[in-house]
Amino acid sequence: MQIKEILTQTPAEQEVTVKGWVRTKRGQAAVTFIAINDGSTIHNIQAVVEGNNNINEETLKLVTTGACVAVTGKLIASQGSGQAVEVKAEKIEVYGTADETFPMQPKRHSMEFLREKAHLRFRTNTFGAIFRIRHNLAFAINKYFNDKGFFYLHTPIITASDAEGAGEMFHVTTFDIKNPPKTETGDIDYKEDFFGRETSLTVSGQLEGELGALALSKIYTFGPTFRAENSNTTRHLAEFWMIEPEVAFYELEDNMALAEDFVQYVIKYALENCADDLAFLEKRLLDEEKNKPQNERSEMALLEKLRFVVDNQFERLTYTEAIEILLKSKPHKEKKFQYPVEWGIDLQSEHERYLVEKHFKKPVILTNYPREIKAFYMKQDADGKTVRAMDVLFPGIGEIIGGSQREDDYEKLLTRVKEVGIDPENIWWYLETRKFGSAPHAGFGLGFERLVLFVTGMTNIRDVIPFPRTPKSAEF
Ligand code: 4AD
Ligand code: MG
Repeated sequence: MQIKEILTQTPAEQEVTVKGWVRTKRGQAAVTFIAINDGSTIHNIQAVVEGNNNINEETLKLVTTGACVAVTGKLIASQGSGQAVEVKAEKIEVYGTADETFPMQPKRHSMEFLREKAHLRFRTNTFGAIFRIRHNLAFAINKYFNDKGFFYLHTPIITASDAEGAGEMFHVTTFDIKNPPKTETGDIDYKEDFFGRETSLTVSGQLEGELGALALSKIYTFGPTFRAENSNTTRHLAEFWMIEPEVAFYELEDNMALAEDFVQYVIKYALENCADDLAFLEKRLLDEEKNKPQNERSEMALLEKLRFVVDNQFERLTYTEAIEILLKSKPHKEKKFQYPVEWGIDLQSEHERYLVEKHFKKPVILTNYPREIKAFYMKQDADGKTVRAMDVLFPGIGEIIGGSQREDDYEKLLTRVKEVGIDPENIWWYLETRKFGSAPHAGFGLGFERLVLFVTGMTNIRDVIPFPRTPKSAEF
């Protein structure tokens, strides 16, 4: 039985075996208390070793923080406070010892330190909680779409197209990079490469997702995504997971409604199914905040913040309206923004955070961005200046979702593709869907780690993915 299950049993001196890793051992000769955790729950089970048992002292000496053990004994009502049941140990088997150099000793470690020990940080309360929540969110996402009749479509990881047109891709090749074959003109001859063309890791499954949606009507992708942008921020990873629903017959308004309902559903799922882990993380954050000056403390505790997002409608406004608000804002007038504000700019995170955290104090959906700052595939508005884009902005996170209604007019799309400098030959298959049975459709991408960041209240995206990939870092 896993510890999660044992902790719910009614103690009646039944025999149980607990297998897990020792978190702490304390006590004297007469009685020793061992806290064991197996990752099934944030809670440890306490094993009590009394002097008059048949466990020999040599074995007990091997039971140290970090060791892996199996403890067999009777499940009894706990004598102490803090837990309902405990195991009266009768037998201890030590699977693996851990000496005092085991880095996860029971004390507070910095997140930086734990990142350097990513192979062992799973064994801390904080990371156990984070990765259980991450799992639950992934499960809720699949459940949400399945219940709503969406099909999970697996789009390729290796691709020859650059979906976002940003050109920040990781190349995939089997060439000897010191000596690739060259053409007569001296260029690298990709015809000789594994796929017979230049290929990269995907930045988005959207283009292929659209092909699926224009047949299956409702699809979603949920896969790894790669971006070689050199952004060393607390919000960017070079490898992250993205969820991309794509729906035929949806327009921008339907897309916004889906995004809102979807995000609220998965957060609600976490509130209902990860209560213990969230309570632990909330307490951890509150403890941390005590060390901060009053004005830097957050206004809401973690659970309150999550409930607030679940219970309140997201604010909807256009990019143009947002610019007007920013132009009238105090930080703009007092020149406190680092970046200038004018119609046409790509909003910086300071602007997004002002709108969400100061002005509206709730999640915001911004729509109808200038076409020049958005991807080629977005449907153009009648004014010729903006496109049917939508970004969902979250407190503390900034952009959590980016999406749009797609351009479904063949000629308009082709013109735009050429304008932005994409060779139509490279995405002939994408363009053909607008030639044969084109349909209005829309979709969006949710950055999974940004969602996990929001739900766990963590502050660095490197701490919500098991093994983060960031510039100059791919250790584990
Ligand atoms: O806004 P983005 O670039 O949109 C797309 O890729 C579209 N193809 C989505 C679609 O319409 N199907 O990325 C979507 C989301 C962002 O809002 C952000 O949450 C996340 O992906 N994201 C990142 N997360 C972590 N690290 C990065 N480097 C990220 N880049 C984007
Ligand atoms: Mg975006």
